[in-house]
Amino acid sequence: MSANANRKVVLKSYPKGAPGADNFEIIEEAIPTPGPGEALVRAIYLTVDPYMRGRLRPGPSYAEPQKIGEVMIGEIAGQIVESNAEGFAKGDYVTAHTGWQTHGIADGRDLRKLDPTDAPISTSLGVLGMPGLTAYFGTLDVLRPKAGDTLVVNAASGAVGSVVGQIARIGGCRVVGIAGSKEKCDFLTGELGFHATINHRETKDMAAAMKETCPNGIDCYFDNVGGPMTDAAFDNMAFGARVAICGQIAQYNDTEQAMGPRNLRHFLVKRATLRGLLVHDWRDRYDEGLTRLTRWIRSGELKYREDIVEGIEKAPDAFAGLMEGKNFGKQLVRIGEDPSRG
Ligand SMILES: NC(=O)c1ccc[n+]([C@@H]2O[C@H](COP(=O)([O-])OP(=O)(O)OC[C@H]3O[C@@H](n4cnc5c(N)ncnc54)[C@H](OP(=O)(O)O)[C@@H]3O)[C@@H](O)[C@H]2O)c1
Repeated sequence: MSANANRKVVLKSYPKGAPGADNFEIIEEAIPTPGPGEALVRAIYLTVDPYMRGRLRPGPSYAEPQKIGEVMIGEIAGQIVESNAEGFAKGDYVTAHTGWQTHGIADGRDLRKLDPTDAPISTSLGVLGMPGLTAYFGTLDVLRPKAGDTLVVNAASGAVGSVVGQIARIGGCRVVGIAGSKEKCDFLTGELGFHATINHRETKDMAAAMKETCPNGIDCYFDNVGGPMTDAAFDNMAFGARVAICGQIAQYNDTEQAMGPRNLRHFLVKRATLRGLLVHDWRDRYDEGLTRLTRWIRSGELKYREDIVEGIEKAPDAFAGLMEGKNFGKQLVRIGEDPSRG
């Protein structure tokens, strides 16, 4: 491998079912040169996110599919090597959407400057980035929890879920988290201040477990997962419940269309509402969300956990692991030296 080469992960084939390392290929190319208004960015952290699974199929969705033979899409946190972008200089820490590669060209309009004295730059891809903002707007604008409400969130120790639960706790809710191991559940109650948890891998009757942990019913349900877990939540809704559909990760690797919920009559009986959300709809209010999330981190009210693997060649497995619950906290891949961590 040449030290002066750009290493990139390109998509070789669309996965059928679970993605694997064989769907990707690592290639080397010359490091590109930025044009007018652009910057060359050296990636330090890559983020792998569940939404990427949706791009790995040729059919239409809310965004264009990932093209075969092209660098895998995604946001990175890194450092500017060379800049023709106004307001950005060599050495600045930034986020950019340059994908899974060590060096990428970003348009100056796509760059977000980071201050490493505010928080570690890796947080710009997690709690202080897209997942944190999803949790912020999905909780406060979609679910609108009131003090005393019971809020249930699944994938609760993950990038989005952990922030949802803590925002609700800060707002005075009783928070129940669903996660896939004892360690994750212990973290939720011991470190993040959740009031109760359900380990979905050890629970045979999810509806009964929800009834036990939510004796007054579920006022707010933040759904990252879908599937039978969500059927069980609908069975346990309180009167006037709000449901936010943020993700359906349990179905992302399905090769056939999943059976829809069969218990929608609960929405009628409970006068409940269900709303899907896409974080980009709040683009104009990202500054507000980031300011508030940063304040909560500084005050110690909001905690976060990162799961960082080393090396660009680990990106495909780290990504596939999201759909198996292998990550514990925000999954990142460090692919370059991080001078900001000292
Ligand atoms: N709508 C939006 O704008 C938006 C934005 C960001 C993310 N999302 C969605 O939010 C969800 C969480 O994303 P994230 O980035 O925070 O990921 P994450 O929670 O950090 O990681 C994914 C987690 O999902 C859980 N999971 C995976 N397969 C599962 C299954 N079959 N059954 C139950 N749980 C399963 C696993 O946790 P356990 O081990 O605890 O099961 C896994 O660790 C995803 O559905 C994602 O697509 C939506």
